[in-house]
Amino acid sequence: MKILFIGDVVGSPGRDMVQNYLSKLKQKYQPHITIINGENAAAGKGITEKIYKQLLEWGAQVITMGNHTWDKKEIFEFIDDAKNMIRPANFPEGTPGKGLTFVKSNGVEIAVINLQGRTFMPPSDDPFRKADELIEEAKKRTNIIFVDFHAEATSEKQALGWYLDGRVSAVVGTHTHTQTADERILPKGSAYITEVGMTGPYDGILGTDREAVIKKFLTNLPVRFEVAKEGRTQLNGFLVDINKDTGVAKSVERIMINDDHPFFG
Ligand SMILES: [Fe+2]
Ligand SMILES: [Fe+2]
Repeated sequence: MKILFIGDVVGSPGRDMVQNYLSKLKQKYQPHITIINGENAAAGKGITEKIYKQLLEWGAQVITMGNHTWDKKEIFEFIDDAKNMIRPANFPEGTPGKGLTFVKSNGVEIAVINLQGRTFMPPSDDPFRKADELIEEAKKRTNIIFVDFHAEATSEKQALGWYLDGRVSAVVGTHTHTQTADERILPKGSAYITEVGMTGPYDGILGTDREAVIKKFLTNLPVRFEVAKEGRTQLNGFLVDINKDTGVAKSVERIMINDDHPFFG
């Protein structure tokens, strides 16, 4: 059972990369399901219903989110009907949307969980205990559990990876937008990477127009952050192959496509 995950899609450069490469990646890796983090898909901030549907049309089965979930106001109009979208499960009780979903491939069920970290992040409930709760719920239906942990601190991401080792198939980090090279299978069988990375502008700063970010650091004045429009683009992803009966990870592969790491089909 192969699962392909694509890191935070940023604005139209990111969406173009998904449109251009997802079918090629599917041809090469033959994933059973594809999960995309879409928290920055609409101009870097949030997601619209149109973009959500586009990402599904281009081949994703689940869209995960993060701290930018609510940035586009129209999210409140469609999130409760968006069956294939999850937002961090440890958002406060009563928040619209859900943080766990199930998808099927060839009759095999896969649970996908989205959680958000608490270190250098907006306040939320405890992601560790929320994970315990949701794993218990998911295990009633399947051993294949995929976790997108949207967090800032490397330590918190590693801690959740080790905390969940052997209880889930994969824990992948998102949010910091710069891919880490620490992909591995932990001793009890969970696939892990601290940060999958970002899909969008390659020559910006984390996807944002670099002039604005540099100006902010130089002056501390208010600046308008926009998705970098000029320049090259990239796609960052992660592939995990899982034993479909036990849920244990068999292999992992980090995916990076840009001018410095060209794609070979
Ligand atoms: Fe992001
Ligand atoms: Fe984020």
